[in-house]
Amino acid sequence: MSNVSWCHKDLLDTKSLSPSEITYILDTAEQFQEINTRPVKKVPTLRGKGIVLFFAEPSTRTKTSFDIAGKRLSADTFSLSASGSSLIKGESLKDTALTLQAMAPDIIVIRHSSSGAAQYLAERLDCSVVNAGDGWHAHPTQALLDAYTLRKHWQGAIRGKSLLIVGDITHSRVARSNVHLLTQLGVNIRIFAPRTLIPKGIHTWPVTLYHTLDKAVEGVDAIMCLRLQLERQQAGMLPDLTEYASYFCLTRRHLEMAASGAPLLHPGPINRGMEIASDIADAAQSRILDQVTAGVAVRMAVLFILGTRWN
Ligand code: CP
Repeated sequence: MSNVSWCHKDLLDTKSLSPSEITYILDTAEQFQEINTRPVKKVPTLRGKGIVLFFAEPSTRTKTSFDIAGKRLSADTFSLSASGSSLIKGESLKDTALTLQAMAPDIIVIRHSSSGAAQYLAERLDCSVVNAGDGWHAHPTQALLDAYTLRKHWQGAIRGKSLLIVGDITHSRVARSNVHLLTQLGVNIRIFAPRTLIPKGIHTWPVTLYHTLDKAVEGVDAIMCLRLQLERQQAGMLPDLTEYASYFCLTRRHLEMAASGAPLLHPGPINRGMEIASDIADAAQSRILDQVTAGVAVRMAVLFILGTRWN
């Protein structure tokens, strides 16, 4: 495991990760998960390192879990939001980033509404940059925690399994990152989405497109519902919300058509009754809270790797 040569200053997307690098991150996360079950959940691994959490878009899971991850590794974490920063006064993203770098952090974790924002920073800063979600583009640590959750559920036997991703693919950085990452691990991806919420270049993606939810879900090994991103919709892309739910909301009937015990994932936050029926979000097959738990371990692994193998 430690023989993997790590050559990345930053974690910007899942496209740049090889299967052995993905496995290295997931194996490292597994070791950190053990720390998260101890009475004292803290190790000195990143003592003296500084991590800035720069979230220019709202977040509950990603921001909190990066903060907890950093603190459990004994790093010092500092939070900055768009509304509490000088971005509000018109300071540019570049000047904000250079200002943060002048305070000598080791890692900057950024979430931003513009696709490419994390890469823009990474090209201009000496410290490591972690993409915590940029526009429609990528959310690499979400895909890593999804892979961690699936790998654990399937006890390591992930290659050859199938995963259905349902919902708003066009606006989903989660879908893009998962398609790149999980196909590297040998997962067959099925997609079902409204015609208006399928990206133009989908024919170049390594996925199979379905035209009905019943066909898409038949015998599938796992299901991931996506959040309907109401804040990113443009006029005409989205049908009436009641009509959307009638075609795209996953219900218990669909879950029963999947492979026996198929895990149900959702990156959160959930719109109950819109993309996922409320009762199945809380069902035994739901792995939604396991995903949140995995998020801490995976982000510990990412901070550890960048903080010790690069910095
Ligand atoms: N999955 C996810 O990114 O959730 P948050 O927006 O709460 O961070």
